[in-house]
Amino acid sequence: MLAVQKVSRTFDNGYKAFKPVSFHTEQSEIVGILGTSGCGKSTLLRAIAGLDLGFDGEISFQEQSVRIGTDHTGVVFQEPD
Ligand SMILES: Nc1ncnc2c1ncn2[C@@H]1O[C@H](COP(=O)(O)OP(=O)(O)O)[C@@H](O)[C@H]1O
Ligand SMILES: [Mg+2]
Repeated sequence: MLAVQKVSRTFDNGYKAFKPVSFHTEQSEIVGILGTSGCGKSTLLRAIAGLDLGFDGEISFQEQSVRIGTDHTGVVFQEPD
């Protein structure tokens, strides 16, 4: 369903938000990402949602790369701005 393969994110200032992470989910699974503040949860979720394409690695949803685009993603942001 969702496949995250060796995904990492290095920002323009050289900061590496997290080491490469891989996992996949099956249909109807409910998945949470847990971690301390600043560990990269929102950064990873933005990449999965296709809102930040500056990551390394590959993310696909239903076999389609998020770099190409998917219309199956909804996002509720933590803060309104
Ligand atoms: N655009 C950016 N440029 C540089 N560093 C960033 C940027 N966005 C987030 N960070 C840093 O990346 C780390 C992960 O941030 P974030 O994904 O928001 O963490 P979380 O959601 O787990 O609290 C933090 O140290 C944050 O300061
Ligand atoms: Mg966050």
